[in-house]
Amino acid sequence: MTTPRKLHIKSYGCQMNVYDAQRMVDTLAGEGFVETASADDADLVILNTCHIREKASEKVYSELGRLRVAKDEAARQGRDMKIAVAGCVAQAEGAEIIHRAPTVDIVVGPQSYHHLPQLLKRAMENGRALETEFPVEDKFGFLPQPRPDAIRSRGISAFVTVQEGCDKFCTFCVVPYTRGAEVSRPVADIVNDVTQLTDNGVREITLIGQNVNAYHGEGPDGRAWSLGRLLQRLAALPGVARLRYSTSHPRDVDDELIAAHRDLAELMPFVHLPVQSGADRILAAMNRKHTADDYRRVIDRLRTARQDIAFSSDFIVGFPGETREEFSATLALVTQIGYAAAYSFKYSPRPGTPAAEMRETVSAEEMDERLGRLQELIDSQQSAFNRAAIGTTVDVLFERTARNPGQIVGRTAYLQPAHVMASPDIIGRVLPVRIDSLERYSLIGEIAAQSPNLQTTIGA
Ligand code: SAH
Ligand code: SF4
Ligand code: F3S
Repeated sequence: MTTPRKLHIKSYGCQMNVYDAQRMVDTLAGEGFVETASADDADLVILNTCHIREKASEKVYSELGRLRVAKDEAARQGRDMKIAVAGCVAQAEGAEIIHRAPTVDIVVGPQSYHHLPQLLKRAMENGRALETEFPVEDKFGFLPQPRPDAIRSRGISAFVTVQEGCDKFCTFCVVPYTRGAEVSRPVADIVNDVTQLTDNGVREITLIGQNVNAYHGEGPDGRAWSLGRLLQRLAALPGVARLRYSTSHPRDVDDELIAAHRDLAELMPFVHLPVQSGADRILAAMNRKHTADDYRRVIDRLRTARQDIAFSSDFIVGFPGETREEFSATLALVTQIGYAAAYSFKYSPRPGTPAAEMRETVSAEEMDERLGRLQELIDSQQSAFNRAAIGTTVDVLFERTARNPGQIVGRTAYLQPAHVMASPDIIGRVLPVRIDSLERYSLIGEIAAQSPNLQTTIGA
């Protein structure tokens, strides 16, 4: 028997990179690789990179500097360490990475992960391998299923990619270039993946896509199914306790998705719906294809369908030419909507995007000031939302043992961590929890009497 080779993957960026890392592990398991927690003893290190903002993408080169040292040390010990760069920086800067970082053996774009075994072989034989084409075949047809023990070790909540790529071309964003055009997976394949996961203990499925509600995969009837229809199908599968989806675009919230929120108890009432800005002129310059009022209307329709629904969003401050009044319109929108959580970013010009050519810029100090004010507002909304849970009884899906002995941690419908003292038997179950207090971002409570009639959720 050959000794297993060791693989270390480090992921940056979004949920899709987390999911992709698992699929790379699954692919390389077939080549005799097992995961290791440290890069130092690995035979193959994969950096799964993100290109979304300058800071994210620069991390790659500093990390490669550290890995070069580890690789030299391995060589001194007579071991051959291969280094691969995957993800969105690989796609965007492929040849440049090969040029700038001689320590890199393999560069592989997000649509070519199923070719990893061949690329590794090529790197062993010829020194270096680069693949950043968008192959004609669909990688999902070739990526192997995770093994049952791998699924179990990853816990009770899992991501499933249902859609990849983006055709929206927001003027600030690299994703349409790094992930390519929108592609939706067929319903049958997704049902198959979800069944495999729930058969091995997964209870919560988050459907992911760069623009997940643009989903239009082929259904069993040969027609294109919407995300709402797909959710309805998945909710009917035994073992699926909770469904979520991310990230959605305001333009693609259709009637079927709204109906899914109205009708499906499994679909969690928490939606990440990025708006980016509250000013129509900026939204137009961003090519978001919606106004602030269009967004308000979508939120209203979702709230009418499901009263306890809550929202999170992404915001960019300091987009080229953003005036103080336009920034104030963003603050006003946030105040009006009331978010349970939100992420805000300083605008970062990205090579190759139309916004990077725009000449009016916002000064660094002004951007810092705007970011600070926005984050303060969002934080106060998030704290108020979390505090509102105190004294209520909420459903919690228990995930794992917590750091404190005897404590088990799970999540509410709104992804708030909730801690109780209980036996680990409750992991994988949804139970009503009476919330007593809040410690930073965590709810603390105790399991309430388990009559189904007592199960309630927080009001909006
Ligand atoms: N596909 C998702 C996520 C895109 S990236 C979506 O459409 O919402 C996640 C967030 O990063 C974006 O919502 C946006 O707020 C932010 N972002 C993207 N490009 C950026 C840039 N050039 N500068 C600053 N923030 C950016
Ligand atoms: Fe980027 Fe816009 Fe597509 Fe989101 S919708 S991935 S922000 S281009
Ligand atoms: Fe980053 Fe690519 Fe995701 S740029 S945010 S890893 S799609």
